[in-house]
Amino acid sequence: MRIAMIGSGYVGLVSGACFADFGHLVTCVDKDAAKIAALRGGEMPIYEPGLPELVASNVRQGRLTFSTELAGPVREADAVFIAVGTPSRRGDGHADLSYVHQAAREIGAALEGFTVVVTKSTVPVGTGDEVERILAETRPDADFAVVSNPEFLREGAAIADFKRPDRIVIGSEDERASQVMAELYRPLYLNQAPMLTTDRRTAELIKYAGNAFLAMKVTFINEIADLCEQVGADVQQVARGIGLDNRIGGKFLHAGPGYGGSCFPKDTLALIKTAQDHGTPVRIVETVVAVNDQRKRAMGRKIIAACGGNVRGKTIALLGLTFKPNTDDMREAPSIAIVQALQDAGARVRAYDPEGMTQAKGVLDNVVYCADAYDCATGADALAIVTEWDAFRALDLEEIKRRLKAPIIVDLRNIYRRDEVERHGFVYVGIGRTAGGVPARFGAAAE
Ligand SMILES: NC(=O)c1ccc[n+]([C@@H]2O[C@H](COP(=O)([O-])OP(=O)(O)OC[C@H]3O[C@@H](n4cnc5c(N)ncnc54)[C@H](O)[C@@H]3O)[C@@H](O)[C@H]2O)c1
Repeated sequence: MRIAMIGSGYVGLVSGACFADFGHLVTCVDKDAAKIAALRGGEMPIYEPGLPELVASNVRQGRLTFSTELAGPVREADAVFIAVGTPSRRGDGHADLSYVHQAAREIGAALEGFTVVVTKSTVPVGTGDEVERILAETRPDADFAVVSNPEFLREGAAIADFKRPDRIVIGSEDERASQVMAELYRPLYLNQAPMLTTDRRTAELIKYAGNAFLAMKVTFINEIADLCEQVGADVQQVARGIGLDNRIGGKFLHAGPGYGGSCFPKDTLALIKTAQDHGTPVRIVETVVAVNDQRKRAMGRKIIAACGGNVRGKTIALLGLTFKPNTDDMREAPSIAIVQALQDAGARVRAYDPEGMTQAKGVLDNVVYCADAYDCATGADALAIVTEWDAFRALDLEEIKRRLKAPIIVDLRNIYRRDEVERHGFVYVGIGRTAGGVPARFGAAAE
């Protein structure tokens, strides 16, 4: 099958490369000429493990090409995927659908023969209807069907997620389109990936409901972590204790600095707006968003408290800036609010991230970027682990201690054992774990 992938970002590029790997002929299109030039030159515009090899091998075998021009690839395609961004609209939090609508207009102008137009971007319920309307308006004579096929890949594990998904959701009410979708994903259901076919609106809502649920799960354990600190319980054991219950499940129960990234923040907001517009507010999700927003900055205050309550003139070293490991994505990363809180309190910030520093430079001002974790710790008054990159899991703690001015570690991802760190003479502050089960108000000042 011939595929035109409109938008070659995290989702478009990964999906395009994976479909090519299944044997389809894919053109990844993007308006961003620099991105396409980089891809043609064999350079990846994003960091995603395994992607350079996958792209290179499919380019070599002639199944994957790149273009800034949409009309040609769309004309030849059996399926056109819309994988453009749907960020939060400035001001009100609704999903900004201008890129989707613009792509639909351009696709409509180029359609030839029966074509399935697939929204892979995360879009509010009813967007498929609007895409259909735009296509019909642009080209009343065109033969097409609009399908919803939300994407569930996670950055950092995107290729494995695409190739071995928990499920594939197809929102289609057109038999010809359903057949094209079945053919596109055939290699996957030979591997028995569950394929859920629904009407289009249901498919659109599944994506938002899924992300909102996961955001709620993370936020729930974060609040339990705060309670653990006050009562002298250990959130990791609480998470394990509840996660072993199959009805709850152990995933997404890691307490931390709050969720960020390119999806949860904007998707929860968009769901709230959709629900309000339909007179059925999702109060749980509204609360999740409010709690998470406050949490990110509160993590800055936690670091300040660990330094004795005052960081004016002090230097704080941050390890990890991206919203999670194995990506260079800085969108809505908790580090942004943490750096802001520290700088507002008069601290100087040094930071190191294995892959995210180029992107971080675009969003964080007045940060000293360092060569590695040890360089970052040098001369700092405290070290905070913000993102749990593997490179930070086995630091030489003696060396870190030698480099720091004061031996304080704030571990916002709970990747270290307290006793191990304390054995090296550090003051250790984790999330939802107090010293020896002592409630925070009776325990070490640092907590
Ligand atoms: N990033 C993720 O982990 C993830 C996971 C699942 C779903 N999604 C959803 O997928 C969609 C895309 O997300 P992303 O992270 O890949 O975004 P992104 O910002 O990385 O990429 C979007 C790309 O689309 C391009 N573009 C915009 N309008 C275009 C047009 N008319 N023609 C050609 N190119 C155009 C942009 O230049 C950009 O390169 C969003 O709706 C997002 O919510 C993202």
